[in-house]
Amino acid sequence: MANELHIITGTKEEQYENLLQQLQGILYKEDDLIAALSNTCAAIKQQFNWLWVGFYMVKNNTLVLGPFQGPIACTRIGYGKGVCGHAWEKKEPVVVDNVHLFAGHIACSSASVSEVVIPILKDNVVVAVLDIDSIEMGNFDTVDVSYLQKIIALLPF
Ligand code: SME
Repeated sequence: MANELHIITGTKEEQYENLLQQLQGILYKEDDLIAALSNTCAAIKQQFNWLWVGFYMVKNNTLVLGPFQGPIACTRIGYGKGVCGHAWEKKEPVVVDNVHLFAGHIACSSASVSEVVIPILKDNVVVAVLDIDSIEMGNFDTVDVSYLQKIIALLPF
């Protein structure tokens, strides 16, 4: 495997298609979760240059900070708290166009404006979430949710 990500320009769909194809190679036969999550958030951050891309892992009924790329972040998030805890509780992806209008949003970085959180389920139980923050308003939509779910399906949970 070449240890260099091929970054492309183009539509969001084209960027995700290119990323997904490379992640299939990067993650192929990698069964170490930390290694897989680390490269996954690094690859997403490299392609899209969003402010923050990372995972929170459910541990002892709390979301605990896992592998990420971006500024330092809060280490623990309770069930139902913030956008991450909300996605965990709902067991569904959450897209927030403007976090300043989301009641209970946890501001790890004051620069964050829009956010997408995808819960990761194993046997119908949320085991982690993928959280992405952008400095731009309304940066995420159903295209992101759909492709991020495809990326998550490659991970060795
Ligand atoms: N904003 C998140 C907290 C995590 S940081 O964005 C990295 C939330 O409201 O759950």
